[in-house]
Amino acid sequence: MKERALLVDLRRGEELRRELVSRGALRTDLAIFEEQGRLVFPLRAGAEVPSDWGEVGVREFDPREAGGPTDFRQLLDWPEGQKAALPRSFDIVGDIVLVRLPAELEARRFEVGEALLRFVPGARLVGLDRGVHGTERRRSVERLAGQGPWTTRHRENQLELDVDVEQAYFSPRLAREHARVASEVRAGDRVYDLCCGVGPFALTIAREQRAASIVAVDLNPVAVELLRRTLARYPFGGRVTPREQSLEAFAPSAPAVERVVLNLPREGIKYAALVATLVAPGGRLTYYEILRRDERAGRGAVVERTLADAGRFVVEEVRVVHPYSPASDLVAVVVDRPE
Ligand SMILES: C[S@@+](CC[C@H](N)C(=O)[O-])C[C@H]1O[C@@H](n2cnc3c(N)ncnc32)[C@H](O)[C@@H]1O
Repeated sequence: MKERALLVDLRRGEELRRELVSRGALRTDLAIFEEQGRLVFPLRAGAEVPSDWGEVGVREFDPREAGGPTDFRQLLDWPEGQKAALPRSFDIVGDIVLVRLPAELEARRFEVGEALLRFVPGARLVGLDRGVHGTERRRSVERLAGQGPWTTRHRENQLELDVDVEQAYFSPRLAREHARVASEVRAGDRVYDLCCGVGPFALTIAREQRAASIVAVDLNPVAVELLRRTLARYPFGGRVTPREQSLEAFAPSAPAVERVVLNLPREGIKYAALVATLVAPGGRLTYYEILRRDERAGRGAVVERTLADAGRFVVEEVRVVHPYSPASDLVAVVVDRPE
């Protein structure tokens, strides 16, 4: 049958299949196939996919032979009212599935775990995601189904990152942002990845091999150790210097560089002011914050005023990365320091 299709580069096939599954965008009743070096995925009606994932077209698909469920909710023999409260989407980190549930479904959480374990191809462990907490933004997770440790290897942007979903922050929803920031790094730029976690920004930048040097700083020893492990597996690993240190200890004696990335959205502008002096003339700071939607239009002027003590800065854009709550977004604030 003819259906909407997404055609993606074979090298990104596994990563994007997982993204499609976790967004509920993949038709699992039809067979994926290969066409001239690209994988062809059948899309669910109305599914939106970012334009940089590949080409969207129409293709003829065969039904999948196994004919399994097309949605994990079909595996739960629950009254429709209760099913309606189940989330459509969930996160996949390596072979671990993380799901958030509304309070009214807590009592049935283990059934949800078993359903997800059966539904997601290659899943080993399913956890209930109770959110991140504390300075190190560690995630509280409860095992719902499956077995083994919370450590895994996660594929994104043609990299395989060592991750511990419980002991160090990592979000599979930022892959495009990591790639975007890496693509903006110019030849010879020196880079700081501040609050680097397990290092997705630093690694993606290093993989592109344009940066002259990359220093990645985080105060969580587990995160830094995971980054070291990933770096040891890549020939470009030597371009990154991991440092287990707080920003407050690192910033005062660090020389200014051309690119600074700071991903500590809860602290947002407060930490941006602390690190602005680390941006050399002609350089750029990209930092993240959680911003109320009605504050976005005026944010550039607020940021420029706040950073004025550190020098003249120009806000290039305040860009939405993804929605955060009904009234707020995670935004990237891109700030240039003119020559
Ligand atoms: C939201 S996570 C971002 C991780 C990573 N950049 C990413 O995109 O996946 C924030 C990180 O900042 C670290 N952190 C928090 N406060 C810090 C500080 N004062 N100095 C250094 N690192 C800090 C935490 O340990 C955590 O790994």
